[in-house]
Amino acid sequence: MSLEGRELILGVTGSIAAYKAVYLLRELGRLGASVTVCLSEHAREFVGPLTFRTLSGRSVLSNLFDPQSADAVEHVALAERCHAIVVAPATANLLAKAAHGIADDFLTTLLLAARAPVLMVPAMDGGMWEHPAVAANVATLRGRGVTVLEPDTGALASGQSGKGRFPEVDDIVEALRRVLAPIRDLAGDRLLVTAGPTREPIDPVRYISNRSSGKMGYGLAVAALRRGAQVTLISGPTALTPPPSAVFVPVQTAEEMREAVLHHLDRATIVIKAAAVADYRVLQVSSVKIKGKRDLTLELTPNPDILAEIAARRTNTFVVGFAAETHDVAANARAKLETKGIDLLVANDVSQAGIGFDAEDNEVLLLDRWGGARALPRMPKAAVADAILSHVLGLRAGAATRKTPA
Ligand code: PMT
Repeated sequence: MSLEGRELILGVTGSIAAYKAVYLLRELGRLGASVTVCLSEHAREFVGPLTFRTLSGRSVLSNLFDPQSADAVEHVALAERCHAIVVAPATANLLAKAAHGIADDFLTTLLLAARAPVLMVPAMDGGMWEHPAVAANVATLRGRGVTVLEPDTGALASGQSGKGRFPEVDDIVEALRRVLAPIRDLAGDRLLVTAGPTREPIDPVRYISNRSSGKMGYGLAVAALRRGAQVTLISGPTALTPPPSAVFVPVQTAEEMREAVLHHLDRATIVIKAAAVADYRVLQVSSVKIKGKRDLTLELTPNPDILAEIAARRTNTFVVGFAAETHDVAANARAKLETKGIDLLVANDVSQAGIGFDAEDNEVLLLDRWGGARALPRMPKAAVADAILSHVLGLRAGAATRKTPA
């Protein structure tokens, strides 16, 4: 695919990999894109604006307060009408500012003004890439629909080896193509996604809950929206910001989640239950705060099994459940798939560090009701979400010709 007619902004930030942005710019130009380069102040220390100006044939944006930038408003307008913004290389500092909405230079201001899709191409030292603060910022950006590429692994500028290298130009162009022309294979579908934990009250100040952060379910909602679906996201309490274009239904308890799910079920073509629903609730919730310093026995009663109820009530809806397992994952998950009567079960081993509850990544086993099994390797939850959606579409397309086991 040529990039003819595409209006792009290339943001370059202060990394030793800034010189590689020159090769990227040359390739974007060769493919026909019109590119305006925006340099951060630190990027200018690595590569001068003249190089970018010569290759792009346009003046380079850099300083928000530059008196020569009297047309700053026009440049913000450019951010609003361009087809995509690529930030390459994106430093840990830039990712942090973008995640927190800081606008203290031209590039970060453009990112806030932009309505176009954004592709971030991180490059930094391996230790920085793995730092929890960077991982959290990347997760925030991905949660908002920003595409953040995984850096390559190999020799780094520090002399060490690790994950943090600027990816190959061809890989960046490929990712840009996907960003520019997102697959709209869920257009016409209405997804009902549940996410996060439920909270089952004990008294006015205490509750029973679990470690679900909502990242898996929100990742599914964002991916489905990008692929053209209408999405209703029913979520227990999380620290995440719901995607603005989803219909968002916040709930607290399993019973509230059940009510919300059943209310929206008829419209849904696909239901995905990524929520970690509490299996039990307290039978007698105290209306006053229970005083401490004495043994306390709580009588628990099972919550309704929402997933099984959906499966029993649905007509043509494709139903996907999750299974959080700690042992015998495949066998337990297969049994759960059958007991609940659903089409696809996504099993994760939540005893493994770095995946499952409150992790950025997941590694899952997909089991379907037709006997199929597919293991997905460990990936960021956004990528797992896309793979699950593609798998659902594949299964649904083949369902008519397949035989359902008795
Ligand atoms: O939220 P994150 O931090 O990103 O973590 C993701 C996750 C680990 C929560 C997610 O990947 C996951 O595994 N979600 C399902 C967790 C769970 O409750 O599993 P389960 O095996 O207990 O339940 C099986 C299925 O039945 C789930 O789809 C659950 O939503 C559903 N269920 C369970 C109990 C109940 N009363 N009603 C239900 O509908």
